[in-house]
Amino acid sequence: MLNIKNLQKSYHGDIVLDGINIEVKPGEIVAVMGPSGCGKSTFIRCINRLVEPNDGEIYYKGQPLHELSEKDMEAVRMDIGFVFQHFNLIERLTVKQNVALGLVKKGHVIEEAYEKAYLALEKVNLSQLAEVKVGQLSGGEKQRVGIARALVLEPGLILLDEPTASLDPILVRDVLDILEDIARGTKTTSMIIVTHEVTFARRVADKIYFMDQGKFIESGTPEKVFNEPVSWIGKKYRELINYC
Ligand SMILES: Nc1ncnc2c1ncn2[C@@H]1O[C@H](COP(=O)(O)OP(=O)(O)OP(=O)(O)O)[C@@H](O)[C@H]1O
Ligand SMILES: [Mg+2]
Repeated sequence: MLNIKNLQKSYHGDIVLDGINIEVKPGEIVAVMGPSGCGKSTFIRCINRLVEPNDGEIYYKGQPLHELSEKDMEAVRMDIGFVFQHFNLIERLTVKQNVALGLVKKGHVIEEAYEKAYLALEKVNLSQLAEVKVGQLSGGEKQRVGIARALVLEPGLILLDEPTASLDPILVRDVLDILEDIARGTKTTSMIIVTHEVTFARRVADKIYFMDQGKFIESGTPEKVFNEPVSWIGKKYRELINYC
């Protein structure tokens, strides 16, 4: 469903993505982990071309995304949800309006969009706040709105860039529990999650990719990469797991 070959990205001559290859199957949950600045956000943003790659091929459901016009990419983005670290919500709109916006853009009538938004909000336990302005919510609640906004489009792929990194530690659990429910509940939607949450990644991901200096340096099932790591990142995470 997603196949990326030799993805490359540089900024002002500095290589940030150095030949990324990955294949993601329908319903597969992938976690990408690695040190700050190694290129995780750049990678995940290149997938739906929020960041323009310099080279490489990106096939999504057989379509060559690297060759599509911006207009065609807009249509593809309706099928690829994105959850941002800093939420990217419209604070002056209500929760329901934020979630419904993508559907309205897609051409749904407003009543239908609100109905679907309400159902998506139920999945993140937030339907009781549907009419509240986003500006009044806690960080954890905002991120649950961000997740509902991705879910409402019933996408084939959801990309999540450190969805809990800017949350109060007490609120992180709520968001991770919801993501775990969603990940376990889906058979067709794939997810790529950039995260430092090792316990979560170990429990939920089908496959882990460790990234360093713009390359995937190790990948495999959580059992393999955390129990018998070969890369320095894997070894660090194993120490962390043993410490906990
Ligand atoms: N728009 C940009 N212009 C120039 N350099 C950039 C830009 N975006 C990212 N970079 C650089 O690319 C490198 C990788 O950045 P990226 O944000 O992808 O890393 P990351 O792994 O997501 O880090 P973090 O864990 O801190 O979020 C960094 O050196 C960063 O400074
Ligand atoms: Mg990042």
